[in-house]
Amino acid sequence: MSKIEILKGNIIHAPVFGALEVLADGYIVLKDGVIEGLFRELPEEFSAGDVTDYADKLIVPSFSDMHLHAPQYPQLGMGLDLQLLEWLQKYTFVTEARFSDTEYAKRVYSKLAGNLVMNGTTRVSAYSSLHREATLVLMDELEKSGITGYVGKVNMDRNSPDNLRETTEESLRETRIWIEESLKRFKNIKPIITPRFTPSCSNKLMEGLGKLAAEYGLPVQSHLSENVDEVNWVKELHPDCEEYWQTYDKYGLFGSRTLMGHCVYSSKTERAAMKRNGVWVVHNPDSNINIASGVASVRIMLNEGLNVVLGSDIAGGASLSMMRIITGAIKTSKRNWLLTDKKEPFLTVAEAFYLATSAGARYFGVGPGFAKGDKLHALVLDDSAFPETLHSDPAQRLERILYMGDDRQIKERYSEGVRLQAEECGCKSAL
Ligand code: GUN
Ligand code: FE
Repeated sequence: MSKIEILKGNIIHAPVFGALEVLADGYIVLKDGVIEGLFRELPEEFSAGDVTDYADKLIVPSFSDMHLHAPQYPQLGMGLDLQLLEWLQKYTFVTEARFSDTEYAKRVYSKLAGNLVMNGTTRVSAYSSLHREATLVLMDELEKSGITGYVGKVNMDRNSPDNLRETTEESLRETRIWIEESLKRFKNIKPIITPRFTPSCSNKLMEGLGKLAAEYGLPVQSHLSENVDEVNWVKELHPDCEEYWQTYDKYGLFGSRTLMGHCVYSSKTERAAMKRNGVWVVHNPDSNINIASGVASVRIMLNEGLNVVLGSDIAGGASLSMMRIITGAIKTSKRNWLLTDKKEPFLTVAEAFYLATSAGARYFGVGPGFAKGDKLHALVLDDSAFPETLHSDPAQRLERILYMGDDRQIKERYSEGVRLQAEECGCKSAL
């Protein structure tokens, strides 16, 4: 017999872009962890169900972090006076090289997984390093913690130090073994093809990765037009391509399951290509400011009908908290609003919340919001430690939590229809 579970509380979600739906003192009914429906009054047929009453707390969808570099977790908050290319050479590649040590990977990744859960992130698209074993360790730790989504073994066969570079053949061979193994081993964490970015990958490697993506029907993630020096470098490396996106497109790495990080300097034609191909833009506001890359015009991309999701891009980003990323996206869009003579409207709280919850879920083929038939991914938020306020409607309370809150406001986390236990998710070992 199926199990009926009912959560009661102030439900807030974003079923459409730009508007929050609030059910004060509402009910989420779950059948075996799958959403049956949201109700203002509990229907008679569910009256025998098991009710968890969260009283005055808020129940919201959990977050999707659609671009993060797991092996950069140890350098979080460091090296941020540098810009991308120097930052990669001086900090990042050195840090990632350590993941040839699988024991080290296990220590770092179990902490990272716990900290993601602590911060309310239950869906990810993560980069690992180029190491196959450490990548499997990352997938294992995320899966054990209750996190779902994609992890990519990074591919790089040029322009990096000897201890963080593969030969082309090795890179393709290792990637195939890793795909086979991870498809067998994991249920909720799946492989994603991950050429690091064009400067790290020879044409031959790109070609092989495009073939692997097609053969296994896998999604793709990479970086696009993040930083001016990077864009110029790609032009030098690919005199045959007019624009950066073409260096991926020509190898079949630029389609409707592709996540492209940043797109700060994407021209009108590059954006049109993304729209045409159904490519997803991952906006990483914290990282773009920290390593002084630039500010993407998210409003323009949204108006043009592009799919936009959000990422922390740690350790360019310095926080795993998607609350910081949501408010970061709003703040950088306000900078654009000011610099365009108030012509480019800034993102509202409802819009940015949609991007971090519903938009990410849509990439995984579910949602938007708490949609019937989806397994529950949710957070229970408690703002009782904040000062009493006149502005007590749930949407205003959510805004305050996003701006002021952190993991201390997250009382419960649900992923794939299951309530995560602090011990199981490793929360206690989180930073
Ligand atoms: N471009 C290539 N690699 C990276 C990386 O690790 N972080 C960021 N932000 N950009 C990149
Ligand atoms: Fe990145």
